[in-house]
Amino acid sequence: RESIPDFARVLSQYVDGIVIRANRHQTVVDLAQHSTCPVINGLTDFAHPCQALADLYTLRELVGKLHGLTLAYIGDSNNMARSLVEGCGRLGMKINLATPKAYQFSKSEIDRFHQDIPQLQLKVTDDPSAAVRNAVAVYTDVWASMGQESEAAIRRCDFVNYQVNSQIMAQAPNGYFMHCLPAHRGEEVTDEVIDGPNSIVVQQAGNRLHVQKGILAWLLSRG
Ligand code: NVA
Repeated sequence: RESIPDFARVLSQYVDGIVIRANRHQTVVDLAQHSTCPVINGLTDFAHPCQALADLYTLRELVGKLHGLTLAYIGDSNNMARSLVEGCGRLGMKINLATPKAYQFSKSEIDRFHQDIPQLQLKVTDDPSAAVRNAVAVYTDVWASMGQESEAAIRRCDFVNYQVNSQIMAQAPNGYFMHCLPAHRGEEVTDEVIDGPNSIVVQQAGNRLHVQKGILAWLLSRG
C-alpha cells in the first residue's frame, strides 16, 4: 500500500541490495531512484539483464573469446532480446534477430541501441535461416511473455515459422542452442533441439547462480 519511493527509502535501510522482479520496468527504475542501496533488475517486461549476463558467461566458458562471433536470436523482440542486444553489443559480438515484421523493434528503439552502444553490430531480418548462418549459438524465448498471455493464441500463429527445430539448427551445424527457460516445448523449440547434444540450456541455468553472485560481489565491493 506504500508508494514505491516510500518503500524504497525504508527497505534500503534494512538491506545491502535489492533484487526485484516486476512486470512494469518503471517500477524498478522508480525503486532504484529512491533506494540508497544497489537495485538489481531480476526481470521486467523491458529487460532481463541478469539472464543475459549468465548466457554470455556460459558461451564465454564454452568458446573462449566472444568478440567477433555471431549470436542468432529467433523470436519476439522482448525483454530477453533487448538484453542480449545490449550484452552482445558491449562484448563485441554480432547479433542477428529474426522476428516477424510486425514484432520487430521500432526504428526509435534500434536507434537507441546504436546510440547507447556505438560499436553494436545488429542485423534484423524476418528470415530465421539467414539469421542463423554462421552463428555460434541460436537463442530463442517464449512467443508470449509475461503479461501477454491473452495474445498467446494469435502469437502461436504469427510465430509458427520461427520455431527452432532441426532444420533451423542444420544451418548452424556447430551452433549451440540457448534458451532462458522456461521453454514452451513444441512452440518456439522442439524437444529434439532442446534435449539435443548442442543444447546448453542447463549450463545457462546453472551459471545463473555463479554470475548472480558475481553481480552482487561487484556491486557490493564498489563501496
Ligand atoms: N520473455 C520471458 C522471459 C522469462 C524468463 C517472459 O518475460 O516471460
